[in-house]
Amino acid sequence: MNMIKNTCKGAGLKLLIASFFAVLSAYGQNRQEITLTTNWKFFRGKNDNAFEQTYNDRAWKTVTVPHDWAISGPFDKEIDKQMVTITQNGETKPSEKTGRTGALPYTGEGWYRNNFMVPFLKKDQRTLLLFDGAMSEPRVYLNGNLVGQWNYGYNSFYLDVTDQALPGQMNTLAVHLSNRPKSSRWYPGAGLYRNVHLIVKDAQSIEQWGVSITTPVIEAKFSKVNIKTKVTGNNLRLVTQILDSQGKELIVQNADQQFGQEFEQNIPVTDPKLWSPESPYLYTAVSRIYDGKVLKDEVKTRFGIREIRYEANKGFSLNGKVRKFKGVCLHHDLGPLGAAINKAALRRQLAILKDLGCDAIRSSHNMPSPEQLELCDEMGFMFLAESFDEWAKSKVENGYHLYFNTDAEKDVVNLVRANRNHPSIVMWSAGNEVPDQFGQEGVKRAKWLQDIFHREDPTRPVTVGMDQVKATMASGFGALLDIPGLNYRVHLYPEAYKSFPQGFILGSETASTVSSRGIYQFPVLKGKDIRHPDLQSSSYDLECCSWSNLPDDDFVLQDDMPWVIGEFVWTGFDYLGEPTPYDEQWPSRSSYFGICDLAGIPKDRYYLYRSRWNTEKPTLHILPHWNWAGREGQTTPVFVYTSYDSAELFLNGKSLGIRKKNKTTPQDRYRLMWNEVKYTPGTLKVVAYDSTGHAVAEEQVVTAGKPHQIVLEADRKEIDADGKDISYVTVSVVDKDGNPCPTATTQLNFNVSGQGVFKAACNGDATSLESFELPTMKLFSGKLVVLLQSTTKAGEMELSVSGKGLKAAQLKLQSN
Ligand code: GAL
Repeated sequence: MNMIKNTCKGAGLKLLIASFFAVLSAYGQNRQEITLTTNWKFFRGKNDNAFEQTYNDRAWKTVTVPHDWAISGPFDKEIDKQMVTITQNGETKPSEKTGRTGALPYTGEGWYRNNFMVPFLKKDQRTLLLFDGAMSEPRVYLNGNLVGQWNYGYNSFYLDVTDQALPGQMNTLAVHLSNRPKSSRWYPGAGLYRNVHLIVKDAQSIEQWGVSITTPVIEAKFSKVNIKTKVTGNNLRLVTQILDSQGKELIVQNADQQFGQEFEQNIPVTDPKLWSPESPYLYTAVSRIYDGKVLKDEVKTRFGIREIRYEANKGFSLNGKVRKFKGVCLHHDLGPLGAAINKAALRRQLAILKDLGCDAIRSSHNMPSPEQLELCDEMGFMFLAESFDEWAKSKVENGYHLYFNTDAEKDVVNLVRANRNHPSIVMWSAGNEVPDQFGQEGVKRAKWLQDIFHREDPTRPVTVGMDQVKATMASGFGALLDIPGLNYRVHLYPEAYKSFPQGFILGSETASTVSSRGIYQFPVLKGKDIRHPDLQSSSYDLECCSWSNLPDDDFVLQDDMPWVIGEFVWTGFDYLGEPTPYDEQWPSRSSYFGICDLAGIPKDRYYLYRSRWNTEKPTLHILPHWNWAGREGQTTPVFVYTSYDSAELFLNGKSLGIRKKNKTTPQDRYRLMWNEVKYTPGTLKVVAYDSTGHAVAEEQVVTAGKPHQIVLEADRKEIDADGKDISYVTVSVVDKDGNPCPTATTQLNFNVSGQGVFKAACNGDATSLESFELPTMKLFSGKLVVLLQSTTKAGEMELSVSGKGLKAAQLKLQSN
């Protein structure tokens, strides 16, 4: 597809027309796609006339899309406050839940308007508007006419607006959005938070999402690529060209025979390079349709060649090799950016997860963005694409159950058709912990939905994340699924394996352990629903919820049960909303479940998973930090998360003994623990030994002195000058000897000059009410992250960070 990334930037009408002529003559094409990003006008509230073409929106705020209207805040306890009984959490009485949906102003109505040129390609052109997702219940007006609507905020949908569009002229698009209170269990975001595209093409053309590519035969030297192409028009000819990852042509195949409105081709690709997380090789199919000799349409589709199998007693295999999912669940918000999609933010998340050794993502509990799937294809992550958190029975008063009966089928259809060519997707999920797990109607719904997935995509299996395991064993619900997914319930795995006929079990959601980065609570206790007065959970990683468990409990199942096909940990990153176990305590407003915090900074738990999952690089990590003024002489346990089997701990040079992993308890099996250490300031050093007893690695933590100097470290020093790209700068403080100060909470100020802007900041503190968008924030456990965004001009930008009593720091970045 010829992607013209926003040709509407800040230009007047004349300039726009000129630029479209330039585009047209340059491409001379039959298809144009324009992503509508700039010059949007936004209004928050009710407005009865804003759909009209002539409505004067000059006083509205100018924004760029993707846009999340609620992320600017302010946080407010009263927003979407819910007096509810969360029955799936085992509650029996209602209580006041604050911060459940993030305490950000996402509820209510909003309007977006954009004036743009529709290119004039030819007389019989078709015009489509494609939304990658709009939160929520979008009603779309073009030139004053209602052209369509969609209820579910997470799904992509497109509208054929040919009859209302004015080719070669300015058109006015108005979108109304509405978010009901009590419609979510987490922060959903608000507004046009994903991209909006305008597509103009010939009347004789390839249908939107009309290309479907599968690879039914894969041998070492040969593979068969099956391509079905849906078209509008008759007596057409299809020419498909397959390109390798470098864009070099491998093979071209012609098809003259239309089967109704579809072509079907079977194309041999020799010496196929298989897609996998370790080697994410991508091919491209270029589909061109001709009427006689005249080119009518051209669409490019990336795909991978890979084989997935789920077999009884063998488990999951990719390209013939059995493996277990080392996965994480992710909500869609991007912390301080809210729900507004940003490729740099998604790429950073995946880079952090790569280093963790993670190889799979579950888009809990809704449709992923196209950008996230593209990145997973490119960077190598398997994907469990989920659809719903509710079916016909409710979890929240205004949840998806309101639309299930009318919309579920079309929502599944769009999910599958929009995304089926991504090699990363290895299974679909029809739902998460739906209350319909109870009762025979629910069994029917499960079958109905699974059949729709199968009809739309016969190549991938379907799962549901089940928490009511006993009920689903009794009713047949679990037995009918392609993949029985268990959420928690580690004690029921063996019984479920025996009871369900599939011969394997997926840990569709695991752990739900809670922790706050850099916070350690004493005495160190293992337990459920533990709450501390500071509303922070302990990073000794021994606290979880009444319904969940510790990471080590899952590791035992993963390691000892060959029929368990992997796990998806709840969650890879903290997310806005659901501040369990503090959901009744203000000001908690974001989750504690993440392996990384809301800023994307790894918590200690990161190293526990890394020590198992990253098989390429060793892990050796000590906790807690060693700044415990006032705790001298008190018991301060030390844990080491490591890929090595044994290690020795030294405090100020004195050995505190060797520990070796052993099977006494799940914790003894996966952590090295010195539980009786008495705190003395100084240096805590761990030396790891290999199996022959040789010292192979060491790490240390040091008691730091007073905070002295700010330190800045960017994840990327060069970014694209596209007005979207972001560099994440981690800010920390060190003492005068350069030792990190792990307890610093200094208020810092940020200033950005040159060709960049301050976009946001985040410190990962789930109780902070500071705005993400103001250039000042307190450190949390000695760290925070500042996001710098490029402008559309290339050049240098500089971030300077200052704070009282600290030596300031500057960092230069480049945008190209
Ligand atoms: C699960 C649920 C998730 C999240 C999690 C917290 O039961 O599927 O959405 O609520 O619990 O532990």
